[in-house]
Amino acid sequence: MHILVTGGAGYIGSHTIIELIEAGHSVVAIDNLVNSSKESLKRVGEIVGQEIPFYEVDIRDREGLEKVFASNKFDCAIHFAGLKAVGESVTHPWEYYENNIGGTLVLVDVMRKHGCKNIIFSSSATVYGNPAMIPITEECPKGHCTNPYGQTKSMLEEILTDLHTADVKNADPNPWNIVLLRYFNPIGAHPSGRIGENPNGIPNNLMPYITQVAVGKLAKLHVFGDDYDTHDGTGVRDYIHVMDLANGHVKALTAIEKKCGVAIYNLGTGNGYSVLDIVNTFSEVNGVEIPYQIDPRRLGDIATCYADPAKANRELGWKAERGLAEMCRDSWNWQKNNPNGY
Ligand code: NAD
Ligand code: UD1
Repeated sequence: MHILVTGGAGYIGSHTIIELIEAGHSVVAIDNLVNSSKESLKRVGEIVGQEIPFYEVDIRDREGLEKVFASNKFDCAIHFAGLKAVGESVTHPWEYYENNIGGTLVLVDVMRKHGCKNIIFSSSATVYGNPAMIPITEECPKGHCTNPYGQTKSMLEEILTDLHTADVKNADPNPWNIVLLRYFNPIGAHPSGRIGENPNGIPNNLMPYITQVAVGKLAKLHVFGDDYDTHDGTGVRDYIHVMDLANGHVKALTAIEKKCGVAIYNLGTGNGYSVLDIVNTFSEVNGVEIPYQIDPRRLGDIATCYADPAKANRELGWKAERGLAEMCRDSWNWQKNNPNGY
């Protein structure tokens, strides 16, 4: 298939492009580079042995998108572009709604004008809020999102679903096919160590914080709470290797090919690991000590969150293959080879 990858220069997008090309698809990447650099796509090109066609375009820029669609006939869009910093979304909600929702509305409008009504959307386990069941299946009701970032994911799921529903009601002969992928906690990097997660400023998420402590950029890890109802008191999450996540998008294309209507899949491993499990595994696998101190809980955090990924396995034939040791090894391999990112 010929695929438009929005946000293709970012962390998950760049890894997914490798998997798409290795599976025989062709891609065009677009990105406004607000949270990434062209260097990632240059390196992806080196890894796959071909240049990645790239347009520096903002998804809110209708004319810019029109130009991309005028010279390409896409079968599907994989839509990663968006702002993703939870804390920043609380202090700058307008920017999050305008970029993530406004941008997606422009994108889908241009797509439908050009007859491309297949989209795979990057959603998040955050839509479950404080989940009503563990492990979390796709049937678990959506919960209250405590921040605008999470709200944009939840709202976009509804907006995209409404597009499909309307097509069915209107007996549209070419209805939307929409795959909503709810990611759990992506970590790790391509095994080459050439591309990886490259956050701006001080990382908010656990693994990039740990790797920056390991490389000496940060003094110690702050563990947010050790009084949760978990095996060691620290928060439990479902960490998934970014290459497994990337492969989930290739598999999601099979749902699009089968004209899935609206299909929702959790992309997680089904295993929950605590903050201290991650710290200990990272230290063991890489032989690097991670100094840490216990701090109070972070506002909005929950105790435990992990997926039941059986539906993606059953319907897409997808399963996460890589374990925690490999995730820790690849995260460190990327950081130590690229102490200052791109
Ligand atoms: P990322 O920031 O590395 O990638 C997103 C890319 O989108 C960046 O390259 C950024 O420059 C680009 N972008 C942002 N706004 C844009 C716009 N208006 N026009 C064009 N490009 C724009 O983030 P990521 O970790 O690769 O995440 C990809 C997607 O997955 C995001 O939608 C994110 O919300 C979602 N997601 C990520 C995680 C995670 O833990 N990383 C978890 C769940 C969901
Ligand atoms: C966060 C976001 C969530 C988003 C997800 C993936 C918040 C509140 N939630 O989830 O919306 O979908 O990333 O991008 O930001 N931790 C520490 N010290 C740190 C960092 C984290 O102890 O410096 C702990 C957290 O308390 C948590 C675990 O590590 O228990 C994972 O945290 P993080 O990587 O930020 O992911 P989530 O909070 O699961």
